Formats: sequence, C-alpha cells, structure tokens
Amino acid sequence: MAARRCLVDWLVTAAPSVPLRMKPRHFVAGDRRGIAISARNCAYSPVGTKSKPSSCAIRPQKQRRQFSAPTSPAQSSVPPFAFAFDIDGVLLHVSEPIPGAAAALRHLHRYNIPFILLTNGGGRYEADRVVDLQRRLGLDLKSSGHIISQHDLESEGSLPVLSTANFVQSHTPFQELLDDAAGLDAATAGGKEGSGGLRDETILVTGSDAARIRTIAEQYGFSSVITPADILAAYPAIYPFDPLLKSVYADTARPLPKPLLLEGGKLASQPSAKPFSPSDLDDSKYLRIAAAFVFNDPRDWALDIQILTDVLQARCGFLGTFDPASLSAEGLPKSEGGTRLFFSNSDLLWATTYHLPRFGQGAFAAAVAGVWSQLASTEQPPLLSPQSGRATLLGKPHAATYRFAERTLLRYRASLLEAHGSKASSATKEAPLQTVYMIGDNPESDIAGANQFSSAHGTDWCSVLVETGVYDPARDGSNPDYLRHRPRAIVGDVGAAVRWALQREGWPADF
Ligand code: G3P
Ligand code: MG
Repeated sequence: MAARRCLVDWLVTAAPSVPLRMKPRHFVAGDRRGIAISARNCAYSPVGTKSKPSSCAIRPQKQRRQFSAPTSPAQSSVPPFAFAFDIDGVLLHVSEPIPGAAAALRHLHRYNIPFILLTNGGGRYEADRVVDLQRRLGLDLKSSGHIISQHDLESEGSLPVLSTANFVQSHTPFQELLDDAAGLDAATAGGKEGSGGLRDETILVTGSDAARIRTIAEQYGFSSVITPADILAAYPAIYPFDPLLKSVYADTARPLPKPLLLEGGKLASQPSAKPFSPSDLDDSKYLRIAAAFVFNDPRDWALDIQILTDVLQARCGFLGTFDPASLSAEGLPKSEGGTRLFFSNSDLLWATTYHLPRFGQGAFAAAVAGVWSQLASTEQPPLLSPQSGRATLLGKPHAATYRFAERTLLRYRASLLEAHGSKASSATKEAPLQTVYMIGDNPESDIAGANQFSSAHGTDWCSVLVETGVYDPARDGSNPDYLRHRPRAIVGDVGAAVRWALQREGWPADF
C-alpha cells in the first residue's frame, strides 16, 4: 500500500502555561536562618533575569551566622531536595576529574540524596558514557581500587552511585520521540497522547561521528536511520566539492533504503524525469525523512548544512524535491508534514583545554539558521525561534530538557526510596521534591535553564554557578553586563556548591 505521509500532522500546539503549584515547605532538619555561606562571591542579592522566590537567595553578609550541623541527620529519611550536576566544567575538565567531584557524589549517595548528571554533551551511548564517567571519576568502587572505606562499599548497595538511571545527556530525550513525535513538546509532555512516533520512520542523524551516532539511534530503537554519508555516497552531486570527501565517507556509508525523488529531472542521474506530480509523494517508493537529528557537534559543517537545508526545503520531507512554500514568509503549512529538525544542545561555547571557550553545537545551529535566513524570506520567523515551527532546540537551557530531567530525577528518587523502603516511613516516602540544586559552570545554559524553568510539581530549581568552567569571575568583576543570568550562588567548585546546598538544607556536609 502506498502510504502517503504528506498529511502527517506535525502541528505543535502552543504549550498552555502550567500553573506553578508551590507546596508548603518543611524541612527535614536544620534551619535556613542558621546557614553560613561558605561560598565565595556571594555577598549580593540576586538580580537580573527571572529571579526565583527569595527562599533560595544568598543572604547578605551581615545576616550570616555559623551553621550548626543537625544532631541526628536521618540517613533513612527522604530529603526534600536533590541535585542536578553539569559535567564539563563541573565534574570534569575535558577528561580529567575536577578535585572534590567524586567525593561530593559519594557523599550524596551515602545519604540517599538523589542526584542526576545533566549534560549538554553527547556522542556516546548512555551506558558507555556512564561506564567511562565511573572510571574517570573513580566511582566504580568495586573494581577501580578507589574503595575508601567499608562504609562506601556498603552504601553502594543495590544502586550504584552513577548509572543510566541518573544520567541525562543532550540526546537522551530523543528517545521520547520513538512512540510520540510530539513527546518533547510542552503540550504533550508527561504522558498525554501525542501524534504517533518516529520508531519506524526514516530519520537522518548527524554529529561528531555520524556512524557512531547512527548506532546510538538504533540502540534507542529507531529502525531506519540514515546519515549524510549515505546520501553523499548514493548521490555524490548533492555536494559538488572536493570528491575526496566521498572517500572519507565511503567506509561508513550504507545504501539508502529508498531512492530520492528527484523533482525536475535536472540532475545528471535523472535527465529525463517526468514533471513532478503530487502523486509522486509516495514514501513506499521514495525516501522521506521524517525528522533530522543533530546528536552532537558535527565536524563537516559544509556537507551537513547543505543536506539539512535541502531537507528543510523539501516537499513533505522527500529529499530531492523543492517546495517554494518552505522559503515563503509563512513557511510550510504545519499540516504538510515537512521534516522537523532537532538540535540536541544550543551551547555556543564550552570549556576545553584551550584557554578561551570554544564553539559548541550552538555555533553549528547558528550557522544552519544563518544560511537558512539567507535562503528564506526576510519575513519568515528565524529558524531557531519557536514561531518557525521547523526546528526544536533541546539541552540546557531549554524547558523540554528540564522537564525530561525532572521526570528522570523523580523516577530515580522513587527507585532510591524503593531501595531503602524498609528504612523510610510512608510519610517521608511521599515527601514532595521541593528543591533541585542545579550545579553548573555555564550561565547561558545551566543557570539560565534553572532560573527559567517552571516545574509542573512546584519544585524550585536553585541555580549554583561554579568557577571551574566557562564562567570567568574576572570578566564578571569588570563588566556588569557579563552575567546575563544570575545564579542564586557563586562558589569555587562543585565541592563548595554541594556543601553550600547541604548546609542550607541542614544536612551533613562533612566530606
Ligand atoms: O556543549 C558542549 C558540552 O560538552 C557541554 O557539556 O556537561 O557542560 O553541559 P556540559
Ligand atoms: Mg558545563
């Protein structure tokens, strides 16, 4: 049967604003008024964009007094708070652990305080990346020789310190699209029925190593995954520059599942094609790309930008065709099912071994959008704007990623409670998650995202900025406009961040 996909409804309905249901606060132990601020650079009231309730604000210096540790921190009780850690610039600097990171994570694990890692990085399968992180951070207590004490070994218990259950990287949320193509949209997030999934559709993927990205997508469950190499190998004329490029891609190219529908017959490979007819839009005969995914930072920007803009201009995702409406002021009607483009993060910069921050995937997204703006009507909304409806940005600071992260954290917290069920009373098991401390180094992603996120559960995402990554305290000191997104606290490193939060919550911070 000639399935016609042209009428697939990719309509993304605008998200109704979710009411913020603030739950009454009560604390397991300690008293906020008794918290001393061990953080550096903390003696200011938060200002700037979207300040959160003042309960998490840094106290002015004169209000500080010495913290007193609670006399009996109940290890078996359920903390009403949790943590989300950025990786690059917080736990690791490139591949090297940042001092104090592993000790902080172990300490939280020891006290059953839930945490997730929430990174804009990607490019490896989650399970592989977690094993790598365990090794780098020395968290694999049983096999790495990092056993510190019998207590550490016992506290590892049935749940390891780090596993895929408490790990979210930039492309992890793509899996939500397997069975619901609108699964990451605010209107459908959290279990409402969506619009059919992408599991059996053809998707295009790219990234730092597109062949490896393809494998990850297949491990996720996508059944028909193509890469730019496949397209270039089958249609070398699509990218009319250095033919050596073809040999670069030859090793990883696979045959395309279907041929391209070459509208117009102007290509040498199809000189006598008949004029295009709408009845040609038949995905049982021709390749239709339902969605294109940028998993992490592409290496060959030129080829990828060419192919991605080709895909965006195609009729209903049939690569090789050209729909003039795609470039018009209005763009493609949403009901026509043009290919949606997903970027897994929009970090313009990130911290590397170079002394200045380097371009991230956000720079690539900006390049795609810049080329698109030169092709499309000047009246058309920018490609990366929500009004465009063609591209979806994920990763921090975007709300879809924070929604996904919060769901992951709540699931993980529940499993932690389950694992320690015999110790926790039913009252504490039902304790709402009141605060998530987002520890990050990048004000534009980690901090902006936490400050702007409006939790459906009323959870307060409290942003804490560290000085071991992208953020530059010297520039912050000399330029009042440098920090566009003010964190609730600025501290030296991840250890200080965790101590600040624990002291604020009245929990032991002796690590
Ligand atoms: O965008 C680059 C990425 O590696 C940053 O990762 O952990 O700082 O979110 P992270
Ligand atoms: Mg970072």
